[in-house]
Amino acid sequence: MADIQNNPPLAQEVDEKGNLPLVSVRNLSVHFPVGGGFLFGKKKTVKAVSDISLDIYPGETYGLVGESGCGKSTLANTMLGMITPTEGTVYFKGKDLFGVDKKTFTEMRRGMQMIFQDPYSSLNPRFDVLQIIGEPLKIRGGYTDEEIEARVLELLRLVGLSDKDLHRHPSDFSGGQRQRIGIARAIILNPDFLVCDEPVSALDVSVHAQILNLLMKLQKEIGMTYLFISHNLAVVKTICTHMTVMYLGKMMESGKTESIYKNPMHPYTQALLSAVLDIDVDNKKERTILKGDIPSPIDPPIGCRFCQRCPKAMEKCKYIQPETVEVEPGHFVACHLCSGERV
Ligand SMILES: Nc1ncnc2c1ncn2[C@@H]1O[C@H](COP(=O)(O)OP(=O)(O)OP(=O)(O)O)[C@@H](O)[C@H]1O
Ligand SMILES: [Mg+2]
Repeated sequence: MADIQNNPPLAQEVDEKGNLPLVSVRNLSVHFPVGGGFLFGKKKTVKAVSDISLDIYPGETYGLVGESGCGKSTLANTMLGMITPTEGTVYFKGKDLFGVDKKTFTEMRRGMQMIFQDPYSSLNPRFDVLQIIGEPLKIRGGYTDEEIEARVLELLRLVGLSDKDLHRHPSDFSGGQRQRIGIARAIILNPDFLVCDEPVSALDVSVHAQILNLLMKLQKEIGMTYLFISHNLAVVKTICTHMTVMYLGKMMESGKTESIYKNPMHPYTQALLSAVLDIDVDNKKERTILKGDIPSPIDPPIGCRFCQRCPKAMEKCKYIQPETVEVEPGHFVACHLCSGERV
């Protein structure tokens, strides 16, 4: 069965402030061929991302949530041009990232950077801080060593490290300090768009708030736009203005964070939120416990991808993909419960 176009219409061109999106994802699918060949039999396809569309506006923090393996990093890496999509595309500042020439692509890529999840493995242990943070400027070229050092010192202060750290190596730093180094490196080329893929999950809980506060401070001071990937729904509620909930490569629900937390419509979102919002006494909701594990993205269900674990699944959910419905302005849900008869 062919995938139906299962996305918000995204007719909205400008946001409330009249801004055009900085990044637009349109009907993006990423499939990875696996297996096959002489010994391993039939070729299979991992449908990591299926027909996702979203718009991220300048200066906002856009949240991406969903269980492990639902395709968040694959989507983010494709948005940064690190993976070529199977279908669909990404527009950055209105230009098709995968439709431009190599030189323009390289220039566009400089405006989009990433903070890695694990600051222990993402920093080269043989390099000192000056080399790590300054490397993107060195690769870009056109800067003297003095200019690079001056810029690195400026960034060290900005991320809360000191001039004395310039010639230290990653092993001399704690996890939180390493993440600050990673952030300084990510912003040295003055990107407009920063992907934060689980930026604190590898760190000690005691430094989570410091790193998140630093990201918020930088956003205010430099005016960056973030895609923020997280398992922590309490953090997403606090810092993200809009969000998408993914399940097995598909968008389940998207819209303003406030609307989704106040009125989650998809049973999957309800289940995710019911586990974290118990402390919110004014907003007590029925608790939904999800049974089973996320199924394999090889041969995902032909109907709704969530149907096998959905506590409210109906017969048709097994066979028919739900269309995306706008349940309130800007709030989209892909669920048969929101779109039609309950059969
Ligand atoms: N290069 C690849 N080749 C084959 N399968 C891949 C590849 N990259 C990712 N996948 C698969 O695609 C699916 C989505 O992976 P992805 O890393 O995007 O998930 P995620 O939502 O970021 O998970 P997590 O929360 O654990 O980081 C997974 O089933 C993963 O195994
Ligand atoms: Mg990931």
